[in-house]
Amino acid sequence: MIELAYSILAADFAHLADEMARAESGGGTICHVDVMDGHFVPNITFGPPVVHAIRPLTSVPLDCHLMIEDPDKFIPDFATAGADMISVHVEVCRHLNRTLQLITDHGMKAAVVLNPATPVEMLFEVLPMVHHVLVMTVNPGFGGQKFMPRSLDRIAHLARLRRELGLNFRIEVDGGIAHDTVSGVVQAGADMLVAGSAIFQPGKTEANAQDFLRVARAAADVGI
Ligand code: DX5
Ligand code: ZN
Repeated sequence: MIELAYSILAADFAHLADEMARAESGGGTICHVDVMDGHFVPNITFGPPVVHAIRPLTSVPLDCHLMIEDPDKFIPDFATAGADMISVHVEVCRHLNRTLQLITDHGMKAAVVLNPATPVEMLFEVLPMVHHVLVMTVNPGFGGQKFMPRSLDRIAHLARLRRELGLNFRIEVDGGIAHDTVSGVVQAGADMLVAGSAIFQPGKTEANAQDFLRVARAAADVGI
């Protein structure tokens, strides 16, 4: 199932509730929340209070992408705030198995994220534990960056591993995913598509989401 995870990082924060509603009426079925701490990535965004504030605005799952050092410290707070899925970067988790278990123990879906420079093989041991793997298709930290074409091989590699191991985790992609790059990632095996700047645009959010999904679903029909 192809899904659009709209990234609120690119939304007009002064009209966040309206913009989220528009992304959803255009077909968005996951709300992607980029949490940045100014340490792991060179940018600061938002934390549990914002998750708490947007929770009553939507019934779609809140997919919290933690770009932070020491995620274990904050996982309970995100659960209390209403997060449904938490993804943590393999690059910051000294005890990745323990962190994923902590997320699951708090009733949320656990996911793991790979930076562009991190080999897919790093995840081998935890693949059976995750709801999805998030493959960064830019270096994390900012919206509006250019898609890295090498990501296509990485997504296909992960999809091959999933087949060989008989697992059913989903593959999410994040960064520079837009109307011109979405077909390639879908054909490589991605099915949770994060998009921010390709979706949020004053007056065009709903239409952008519809067009984006039309292109993505057409690529899925063609298959690999
Ligand atoms: C980047 C974030 C992304 C970002 C994507 O670090 O993880 O979720 O919002 O933005 P676009 O779609 O604009 O590349
Ligand atoms: Zn993200």
